Amino acid sequence: MEIILIEGGKGLKGEIRVSGAKNAVLPLMAACILNSGVNSFTNVPDLADVRTMVELLEIIGAKIEFENGDMTIDSTNINKWEAPYDLVKTMRASVLVLGPLIARLGKARVSLPGGCAIGERPIDQHMKGLSILGSKIDLEEGYVEATAKELRGGIIPFDVSTVTGTENIMLSAVIAKGETLILNAACEPEIVELANFLNNMGAKVEGAGTDIITINGVDELKPVVNHEVMPDRIEAGTFMVAAALNQGDLTITNCKFEHLGALSGKLIQTGAEVIKTESGIRVVGVDRPKSIDFTTLPYPGFPTDMQAQMMTLMCLSNGLSIITETIFPQRFMHTGELRRMGAQIKLVGNSAVVRGVSEISAAPIMASDLRASASLILAGIAAKGKTEVSRVYHLDRGYDGMDKKLEQVGARIWREKI
Ligand code: EPU
Repeated sequence: MEIILIEGGKGLKGEIRVSGAKNAVLPLMAACILNSGVNSFTNVPDLADVRTMVELLEIIGAKIEFENGDMTIDSTNINKWEAPYDLVKTMRASVLVLGPLIARLGKARVSLPGGCAIGERPIDQHMKGLSILGSKIDLEEGYVEATAKELRGGIIPFDVSTVTGTENIMLSAVIAKGETLILNAACEPEIVELANFLNNMGAKVEGAGTDIITINGVDELKPVVNHEVMPDRIEAGTFMVAAALNQGDLTITNCKFEHLGALSGKLIQTGAEVIKTESGIRVVGVDRPKSIDFTTLPYPGFPTDMQAQMMTLMCLSNGLSIITETIFPQRFMHTGELRRMGAQIKLVGNSAVVRGVSEISAAPIMASDLRASASLILAGIAAKGKTEVSRVYHLDRGYDGMDKKLEQVGARIWREKI
């Protein structure tokens, strides 16, 4: 097993490049199930989750090559329909193959994801939407079994705004007969990216990025070549917070300021300078950030995937900060570890009350999930002394070479095998 060691206490300075987006590339890869031929992508991040999706698509018959950010997916021989428990349990986004498998093969058997470190994550809305489109859905031995003779369009009113739920419906409605309306659709930039990709395949998707998506089914979809995966806004956001610590100054390239409005606004309120640059964003931190309150919300609100990282910054603020988590109300596993470093945090229901301290100290700490591990790495950068982060495989699920990138901008960070 590997651990990450950080000797912190120093601001980061320089230029840091963002990789392709995990939460965009996973649905794009699943979308390849819908056509027959060779699709290709550039700017694909090298992540454990991407490799899990490769494994899953290979199990159902795809041929995949992946090297140096370039990926080809030959979907010609996709002829199996099962996503086994062993893969789904390591990556919930495996559920994204459900919609396109029903659309292509008329059946799918996907292990039902269980609970996870960030809380309960049901997929009832995915199943409701797919049954409106004409799938028969059963739960058998922990698996969702879906069959459909023919998918037909329909009106899908989501009770909650769900990112992968919206994606799953898009990934099946594109070849259903007639028109589908998704109401209360998720508006995340990754949804827009998927819609653009599907439209390049020949689909008719309109309204992505708003809460009403209209899809007119087509008979056939063709492969797409050279699709460049959009930049990862959460990786960019994580580096923005890294810059705000210890008076750092980072120019973050290959990212989109437009995707980071809510976070930028909050960072500015802490006193940091946030400047839009030609290829991204520059953030300059202050000596002691001002305390602010924030609440996680669906896009364009403050992203839940940035809650843990921003909490690390608030641990060092000059006052009291109230952080409310409305997307995953139990997503607070990182607080116990941050407390071990001297942070003062109290949980009250789905809120964390953070009393900023002037200094946190290094400690052995343990990552519990992907974004929690990012927040702990940031805490290690801020703390004086040597922090030891274990279970870093969580970090590798969603950050492409984060420690190496941080090292290039001055962090004293390295890995050791234990
Ligand atoms: N929900 C339901 N029923 C459903 C689906 C969702 O009640 O059928 C609820 C969830 O429990 C949650 C809310 O709806 O309270 C939103 O969940 P959503 O479905 O949008 O989350 P997701 O699609 O499972 C994606 C990202 C997550 C990110 C969330 C929220 C991917 C692959 N994952 O998950 O990313 O936190 O949207 O923005 O796109 C991460 O990258 O670390 C990560 C967890």
